[in-house]
Amino acid sequence: MTSHEHTRATIAERPELMAAVQGLVSDTWPDYFQSARSDPDDGRIDWMGLYHRWPHLQLALLDGDRVIASAHTAPLAWADEPSELPEEGWDWAMRRSRDDLDAGSTPETLCGLAVTIASDRQGEGLSRVMLRWMHAVARQHGMPRLIVPVRPSQKFRHPHTPMTEYASWVREDGLPQDPWIRTHIRIGGRIISACDQAMRMVGTAAEWSQWLHIPLPDNGEQVHPDLLSPLILSDGIGRYVEPNLWMLHG
Ligand SMILES: CC(C)(COP(=O)(O)OP(=O)(O)OC[C@H]1O[C@@H](n2cnc3c(N)ncnc32)[C@H](O)[C@@H]1OP(=O)(O)O)[C@@H](O)C(=O)NCCC(=O)NCCS
Repeated sequence: MTSHEHTRATIAERPELMAAVQGLVSDTWPDYFQSARSDPDDGRIDWMGLYHRWPHLQLALLDGDRVIASAHTAPLAWADEPSELPEEGWDWAMRRSRDDLDAGSTPETLCGLAVTIASDRQGEGLSRVMLRWMHAVARQHGMPRLIVPVRPSQKFRHPHTPMTEYASWVREDGLPQDPWIRTHIRIGGRIISACDQAMRMVGTAAEWSQWLHIPLPDNGEQVHPDLLSPLILSDGIGRYVEPNLWMLHG
């Protein structure tokens, strides 16, 4: 499928794009998204599991031969009230989607896990293209709702502010101050609730130091542009709990 000069493909249609999509993710997301262990499960984020279980739900946008944007999603047999969405976000959706698949349950809701735009292509409005495409894919596969644990792009500037408060900040025109929350609202999304424990990640102080590219003490609190809330270091172990915001489309 082609739109403007861009080509769209799912990993099911073009499995050979998997490495390029994962390369885009590695280049664009903070290092700890590849390397930190989840706390307490001890596993790393199972990006590969997404490609293998649901290749038709992993999306790649190409400019010529180059993957310039991607979207990762997972289906959930979840049809509860949006207000029932848990405090967990990513971690819950990853676990639940895998369990639902193993149980053979019918998908009811698509969960948008990640939208990634190549660094040199950010600011061109491509994220809107990817969000609309995710929504279309959800409907195409019989899932009327798209839920997203949104990672607000400017939250790192306010690491001590609770997500509920941060998400309530609006500009004079009434739209959210955060550009990524605003983008979701502009295309019809609505805020449901904070998921204050979207991801729990753990590593040694030495590992975090490598992932964040700064020296770190064994004890104390660290803020950093890659982190939406402070990293807490205790006896050489760093724990990070990432707050996200549940938003609903459809
Ligand atoms: C967050 C991300 C998806 C946004 O994608 P994008 O294609 O660059 O965003 P767009 O061009 O569609 O712009 C969206 C809004 O953000 C604003 N924006 C874009 N870059 C910005 C920047 N560096 N600083 C502040 N605002 C910015 C735009 O002005 C626009 O807001 P407006 O239309 O209300 O003015 C992209 O930056 C990204 O891939 N980041 C790394 C991975 C990530 O954090 N993904 C999101 C979590 S799933």
